[in-house]
Amino acid sequence: MKNGEMWKDIDGNDIQAHGGCILKHGESYYWYGENKGADNCPGTTRVDVIGVSCYSSRDLVNWKYEGLALSADKDDPQSPLHPSMVAERPKVLYNEKTGKFVMWLHLDDSRYVYAGVGIAVAERPEGPFRLTCAKQPNRQDSRDMTLFKDTDGTAYLIHSKDWNKTLNIAKLSGDYTDVDGMYVSVMQDQEREAPALCFHNGMYYMITSGCTGWSPNGALFARCPHIMGKWKLIDNPCEGRNYRRTFEGQSAYIFEAGGRKWLMLDHWKRFDLKNSGYSILPVEFDSDHNMTVRWTDEWNGLPLI
Ligand code: DGJ
Repeated sequence: MKNGEMWKDIDGNDIQAHGGCILKHGESYYWYGENKGADNCPGTTRVDVIGVSCYSSRDLVNWKYEGLALSADKDDPQSPLHPSMVAERPKVLYNEKTGKFVMWLHLDDSRYVYAGVGIAVAERPEGPFRLTCAKQPNRQDSRDMTLFKDTDGTAYLIHSKDWNKTLNIAKLSGDYTDVDGMYVSVMQDQEREAPALCFHNGMYYMITSGCTGWSPNGALFARCPHIMGKWKLIDNPCEGRNYRRTFEGQSAYIFEAGGRKWLMLDHWKRFDLKNSGYSILPVEFDSDHNMTVRWTDEWNGLPLI
């Protein structure tokens, strides 16, 4: 699979899973993302909401389309999932206590003014997910977002707030279906979005992009020894061609596979969003807690060990 390009599923169809995440459950990996499989609305940089796709794979290369895990709500013009809205960056976690799969996603109106989240729950990884709530977490605006599950099972919502000026890290309730009221604001006034987190050797890391809409910009990583501590922005982790523009992409998610961390990117085509490509790139760490994301031309799944 060529990094930066549109990828195909095992049936030869385009993979529609933008702004996504990868969840391992059992022996399978599940890739959830925005289904943007329609033309942009004329003269705009948006596609009507179709829903959240789910794909499954055992090797992270051969992806089987499992259908829409969460579908747009065509019949109710008041629904936050109506096609005329915005539904972006879906993230899914498995909750060990309840045995349920919980999805959070950015829900918005077409002008990105409402700025909230949706929370949906399913019994099975493929869905169907049922929207249980649409709100502003801790009564704050929320645009780009991700979820992070810590080693002790506690989960967090990380979202851009204050019109993307600052990021909040908000603790989730034990069943992951709400925020529990505890949060910290980090990287204040640094204007970062597209957060993707991981934990490695006692340190939390977060990659973010700047706020330039669908256009690429320089990624930065931040780190902190405590998830709710004082995060520090460090530097651009990217190395290789186009490293100053995140390889012409934007961070979507960091996942673990084969004992390593991988960063998934979106390569947005703003006037043809359905053809936006993907990359999966290796993430490395050194003993000084520096993080490096290196460009590779291809994603061929996990290296044989
Ligand atoms: C950048 C965000 O990262 C995307 O998810 C999307 O919301 C675009 N902005 C919209 O301009």
